[in-house]
Amino acid sequence: PLSTATLVSRWAACHIADRIKAFAPTAERPFVLGLPTGGTPLATYQELIKLYQAGDVSFRHVVTFNMDEYVGLPQTHPQSYHHFMHEHFFNHVDIRPENINLLDGNAPDLEAECRRYEDKIRQYGKIHLFMGGVGSDGHIAFNEPASSLSSRTRIKTLTEDTRLANSRFFDNDPEQVPRLALTVGVGTLLDAEEIMILVTGHNKALALQAAVEGGVNHMWTVSALQLHPRGLIVCDTAATMEL
Ligand code: GLP
Repeated sequence: PLSTATLVSRWAACHIADRIKAFAPTAERPFVLGLPTGGTPLATYQELIKLYQAGDVSFRHVVTFNMDEYVGLPQTHPQSYHHFMHEHFFNHVDIRPENINLLDGNAPDLEAECRRYEDKIRQYGKIHLFMGGVGSDGHIAFNEPASSLSSRTRIKTLTEDTRLANSRFFDNDPEQVPRLALTVGVGTLLDAEEIMILVTGHNKALALQAAVEGGVNHMWTVSALQLHPRGLIVCDTAATMEL
């Protein structure tokens, strides 16, 4: 735990930069980074951009895979995760467009799109570091409560709780939040070499408690981190309230 959300984002950004630099990626041997959206990682993206601008890290040989995407929102919609990632991160660093992987929530065949994504990850061997956030109900990516812990990339129906929580980005109107999303599975996340989950704010305290003190439980999919040999939670003091 760190005292504030700002320190969490600085720590997380430095950790990612350190991992990339230690790996010394090349075009033939890129570093593969899994990325989230949401309010929590925003400050980490800003810190990463600062590190890039200071010449401390380059994303030239980094390949990214985002964890999820809404179904049916146009890519240009301000709340599509495609738009979010470009606006808050990709447009500000030296990543090559061909190295960016995002799920296409408008693909004509969504199941085929999920298979394509898993195949693409497999082509690279594995994701070296997957960064994530957590929903207040303990979901990682869009692996809502009751998701199988061995799930792979698939279509998920969002819970009312999640649509309500995310309605703050949709004029506070839950009806505008898409009902379906594509998401990597818990199994996909567990396959990564390292997982780093950021947890900030008192509204995540129950999720953090379930993750750390509860048993491995498919109702709080973040608890699957306990199964991972290199699962890391970076949190602020506010999130530790229930520990
Ligand atoms: C969405 C995303 C998750 C994210 C969660 C929490 O449901 N699919 O990846 O962790 O929101 O978001 P926030 O960081 O805004 O609280």
